[in-house]
Order: sequence, then C-alpha cells, then structure tokens
Amino acid sequence: MVAGENGSVEDPWRRARALMAGLPDGGLNISHEAADRHVAAGRGDVTALRWLGKDGSRRDISFAELAEQSGRFAGFLTSAGVEPGSVVAVLLGRVPELHVAALGALKAGAVVCPLFAAFGPEPIRERLLRGRARVLVTTPQAYRAKVAALRAELPDLDTVLLVGDGAADLEGALDFRAAIGACAPMPPVSTRPEDPALLHFTSGTTGRPKGALHVHEAAVMHAFTGRGVLGLRKGDVYWCTADPGWVTGTSYGIVAPLALGVTSVVDEGEFDPSRWCAILQDEAVTVWYTAPTAIRLLMRAGAEFARSWRYPALRHLASVGEPLTAEAVEWGRAAFGHPFHDTWWQTETGAIMVANAAGADPVPGSMGRPVEGIEAAVVRRDGDRIMPVRDGDLGELALRAGWPSMFRAYLDDDERYRACFVDGWYLSGDLARRDEQGHFWFVGRADDVIKSSGHLIGPFEVERVLMRHPAVAEAGVIGKPDAVAFEIVKAFVVLRPDCNADEAMRRDILAFARRQLGAAVAPKELAFADALPHTRSGKVLRRLLKANETGAPPGDLSTLEGRGQP
Ligand code: WT7
Repeated sequence: MVAGENGSVEDPWRRARALMAGLPDGGLNISHEAADRHVAAGRGDVTALRWLGKDGSRRDISFAELAEQSGRFAGFLTSAGVEPGSVVAVLLGRVPELHVAALGALKAGAVVCPLFAAFGPEPIRERLLRGRARVLVTTPQAYRAKVAALRAELPDLDTVLLVGDGAADLEGALDFRAAIGACAPMPPVSTRPEDPALLHFTSGTTGRPKGALHVHEAAVMHAFTGRGVLGLRKGDVYWCTADPGWVTGTSYGIVAPLALGVTSVVDEGEFDPSRWCAILQDEAVTVWYTAPTAIRLLMRAGAEFARSWRYPALRHLASVGEPLTAEAVEWGRAAFGHPFHDTWWQTETGAIMVANAAGADPVPGSMGRPVEGIEAAVVRRDGDRIMPVRDGDLGELALRAGWPSMFRAYLDDDERYRACFVDGWYLSGDLARRDEQGHFWFVGRADDVIKSSGHLIGPFEVERVLMRHPAVAEAGVIGKPDAVAFEIVKAFVVLRPDCNADEAMRRDILAFARRQLGAAVAPKELAFADALPHTRSGKVLRRLLKANETGAPPGDLSTLEGRGQP
C-alpha cells in the first residue's frame, strides 16, 4: 500500500537491506551490525550504552567495548562446545551484560532467548525446557531463587553463567565476568540471513507459550523501522524503556539502536516519575520509546510535574504495546512538548508494522498507517480465504507475509505456525478498523490473551498453575480492565468439595500462584465461584467471565464495537 503509493516500484527491502553492513562473504550476523561494524568504520569510541545503575552509579560502554566483550563471550561459548543454533537464554535486568550476552551468543551463531526477570520458577522452567536452552546467563539471586532447584529437570542446560556479586560461590554455575575474561575475542560466525537468531516466547489463549523464532535478517527491519518510524539517526540519545525480557527490549532495546550506531540509555532502575523525567532531561534524550502503562502513571503525576524538568533535546516520543488513547497522545505535548506517536506490532512480526511515524503529527487514538513496505488490511476469515472488510468495518488486522522480521516458526509447532497464515497473509489476532484515510484503529483482541502493564499473559498458563493448588477444582483466568495496567489478571476459582471459600484460602491460593508464576503474571484478584461457564466442548468460557466482570454483554465481535473507534 504505502510502498506503491508514490508510484515507485522499487523494492523497499532493497533499501532496507542497504542499512546493513553485512559480512565480507555475504553473511549477516546481528552482532556484527550492532557492534563490530562501527569499530570497522572508525566509530568504535562512540558510546553504545549509557548505563544508569539503580544506586546512582553510571557507566558508558563504547561500541568497541561491546564488540570486544561480546567477542569474548562468543569465544567462551565456542570453547564450551556450544554449536551454532543452540539456545542461549538470558534472564537479566537492564544491565550491560545483557547486551554483551545477547550479542555474544549471536556472534557465536547461537540463538538468544530473552526471559522476563519477573517470571517465577514455573514460566522459566517451561521456557528453558521448551527452548532446550543449553546456556543460561542470569544473576546469582535469580539462579538461587528460580533455577537451581530445577536443574535436574533441565537436561539440556549444561552451562549457567552468573552476573554480579556472589557468582563465584554457587555450585553448578560459572562467574560470567571471569569466564569471558579468560577467553580471547572472536569475530562473528558468518551466519546466513535466514539462520535463526532470536527466540521469543509469547502467550496464546490455549496451550503453552509459543516460541516465535526470528532470523538474523530481522535486523534489516529493526534498523529500517528504527530509522523510518522512530526517526533514529547518528548522534541521537535514545531511550527504550521496555523490559529486556520481551520482544521490544530486543528489537528496539538492543538491535535497532545499535545497528544504527545510536547511543542508548539503559536504566537499571524501576519506573519512577521523577527518575524518568530527570533521565530525559539529564541524559538529553532525543528519542524516547515507551509504553502506555508508564505514560498513564506519568499522567497521574501530572503535566505540571513533568514540566518541572526541561527537555530541549527531546525530539520524538513513541509508544507501543497497548492501546494509546488520544488523550495520552496529546498529554505528551502538554508535558514534554511533543505528542506520543503510537506504533503497533507483535512478537510474531518482530518489528513495527503500523505506526504514526516520526516527522509527522500523529493521528491521536489511531495506531497509524502501515510502515513502508508493509501491506496491512482489515479482513474476515472465510475458510481458507480472507475477505477484506469495508473501510470503517470491524475485522482482523492482517499483514501480507514476507517482511524481513516475520517470525519463521513456532518452535516445534508447525501446525500452529501454518494456522497463522491464510492465503499468503499473516493474521494477527487483533481486531481493528481502517478509516478512509488509511489509518488503523485498534479495537481489541480476537482471543482471550491478557495484556497487563504491557506484558502478554496467556490465561492457560495461569490456570494450569492454579489447578495445581490442592484445593482448586477448576480455574478460569481473565484480564480485568484496569485504569493503569490496561488489564490485571483475575482468577475465578471453583474449590474442591470440602474446602472453605474463605479469606485465608483466597490468600493461600494467591500466594501459591505468586510463588510459581512470579508477581507480574500471577493473579492480582481471585473470586470463588460455585461453577464456571463452559463451552459445549467443556472449555471454560472466559469471555462470559469477562463480560460479567465488565458489565458488557458477552458474545462475539459485536461486543467490541464501539471501543477505540475513530
Ligand atoms: C499485542 C502484541 C508490540 C511489541 C511488544 C508486545 C497489543 C501492541 C499495540 C498498540 C493496541 C497494541 C496487541 C498485539 N498491542 N501494540 N499500539 N495498540 N494494542 O508484543 O507481547 O507480542 O503483544 O500487543 O494486542 O497483538 P506482544
């Protein structure tokens, strides 16, 4: 659509690929694009990462340092017998070792699998097992609390490296610093554009988390959208606030800015309105990519509050992950002098697909238009065909398959992968409308997945853990609308016959879920029910639970009419 609009027949991917340096023999390796190429071009001393520690400490890491450190980690992996294609899982917060580990693994030809640091032991076990991870890089604290007890259940996990104090004292694990210090830097393995590079687990409505696999060529799209949508250019100080455990943290927290040679702020601290405003001011951030939950929290603090700092360097504000209201878009202007620009994409798409791009005023409340090179449509499924709906009508957001960062597989689940595509189009599972000007408007999810504080949570993963509690006979889990987090996880539980539905029981089940799942995934609310509604085939009808909760009528697409409309 956009690609053809200017009458140009030029292949946009040809231009996008030109953003890559490539390897001399035609290979493509993300680690080379993110670090080594800049050293080769004489820009090694430019700051790649400006790390801000929780405790107020700070450290600048240059592209040369990043290239060297990641080369050492690649050397370590290779000497440890980790073959190309093996999975290296990374369970870290926002620390420079995250970048070193991810780029080092890619350099060795391994596949990086980021894990969310707020996960409890159960989601971690599941992902390490399903990913057949051979290596895990984490902290001594996380290892002790969440992984050590699982080692016997993870036969593929032969190497664990720990970042931080106390690493040397834990049995069955190595000290990351010491391990890489002992290895000479290695140049990138000459991976092909289609070789696997990134494994991101994401949640579906039913079944277990899905491992979306991306290839090295995804970096083409990361860089292309980093430039075209976020407007990144050399000299920028860019701040992506996404958690490194999710896809945004990799695509736009690591790959896009580094490939474009831009300096990234990496803040180890947690969200805090004063801290964030001070970072935007003091680090002279030029481009800021954040999420609606954080924006809503800042809005609570107030525009006046945000204006206690000054942002003369700030040029562009963008958002992703959840619906961004028109009010939030405009609030950006009042607080920071620039509107927030909404962008839409998913783990599966690997990079931004629909956006309000930098350099133009956003359409408040709309996700924007398809990115250059992307063909997007609003459709209805009709067997093995799709039918576009009329402008303004509700349908499913679909993308014509074939962009560089499109996922190439769900790990060990070809059937599920194939089911995402109809007639050459990828179906996103999101409901949307397109207006006559070609802007896309988010309406809701076509399925039951939950979005809480920007994190996608599969209800089944939560229900499965609840059912393990000895008193629970059945559980149904939904996203309950929330003013800040967009949704919170709420569980409905039917108890076994002789169990008491009292406050002590409620707390016990909630605590049980929190221990297993981690606070970010576990239910925040729990209600007892005598019975749960079921489909004819016996599945819990989450939609009805949700409708009762919100007061909206239950049912199909029609219940979503009227939300987030143009
Ligand atoms: C789901 C994908 C986006 C990368 C990080 C999350 C929702 C995403 C928007 C937006 C409304 C949005 C969708 C999508 N979402 N962006 N701009 N407006 N909803 O990736 O965890 O795979 O989540 O996030 O429902 O399908 P993810």
